[in-house]
Amino acid sequence: MNEMMDILLKRKSTRAYEQKEISPEIKNAILQASLRAPTAGNMMLYSIVDVTDQRVKDRLAVTCDDQPFIAKAPLVWLFLADYQRWQDYFLACGVDEICAAKNEPMRAPAEGDLFLACCDALIAAQNAVIAAESFGVGSCYIGDIMEQYETHKTLFNLPQYVFPICLLCFGYPTDQQKNRAQSERFDQKFVVFENTYHRLEKSEFDEMFSSRHQQMFGKRKGIDGSVNVGQAIYRRKFSAEFTYEMTRSVRLIMKEWGLA
Ligand SMILES: Cc1cc2nc3c(=O)[nH]c(=O)nc-3n(C[C@H](O)[C@H](O)[C@H](O)COP(=O)(O)O)c2cc1C
Repeated sequence: MNEMMDILLKRKSTRAYEQKEISPEIKNAILQASLRAPTAGNMMLYSIVDVTDQRVKDRLAVTCDDQPFIAKAPLVWLFLADYQRWQDYFLACGVDEICAAKNEPMRAPAEGDLFLACCDALIAAQNAVIAAESFGVGSCYIGDIMEQYETHKTLFNLPQYVFPICLLCFGYPTDQQKNRAQSERFDQKFVVFENTYHRLEKSEFDEMFSSRHQQMFGKRKGIDGSVNVGQAIYRRKFSAEFTYEMTRSVRLIMKEWGLA
């Protein structure tokens, strides 16, 4: 096809890295690709923190649900959904004064703004992922950065209208990671619809999960009391301890934004 398609179709997450630095030139190229990402209203509603302090990486490896590989990643970037910059700029421009003169309350960043800022930050992050891949640099998203808000707020000096939406670890993949099989995706017929949404039936779920069921259970009847993928994923992932911490932490951030 073409080189870009090859990169997109062959990509997989990298969680073990060669102890090899990413050169400043490559790092800068990845950054430039990230900063060229589409952005709502051309407002760049995000910030990126380059985590270079090993002590901070070590801390993140614990606070992000105990994932030691974070500490070993040569490059770690924190993506922040950021409305603080615009809010501060509005105030610096005297928006509060024109609102007061018109007897109108000044609007504060709200739910829609938060979601747009998250979109911006994640799209910028994904541009970085793909740019990195083009240089042979692997990456892994860390969603657990949304946990432990109090700790991350202090660690990164986060002001009110900043939401830590994802962390990205980058590094050259070890041979084991290079040779690892790609993880499967659902067949597109269960995910891509024409014109209207299609809610799946039990029989469609059976087909959709048949290969994952085989991979997970093989000839075994059950694992820890679960007899199918839904039960296993519910227990292992959806209702795992980290989900409660993430919900608690995200609610706290929403409260900080005045939204809860
Ligand atoms: C929003 C998001 C959060 C993720 N968080 C983590 C994480 O905390 N730890 C981790 O090891 N992988 C994380 N991943 C990576 C996924 O587990 C991975 O993309 C998925 O298993 C598919 O595998 P692949 O990327 O190799 O195709 C995350 C991915 C996304 C998109």
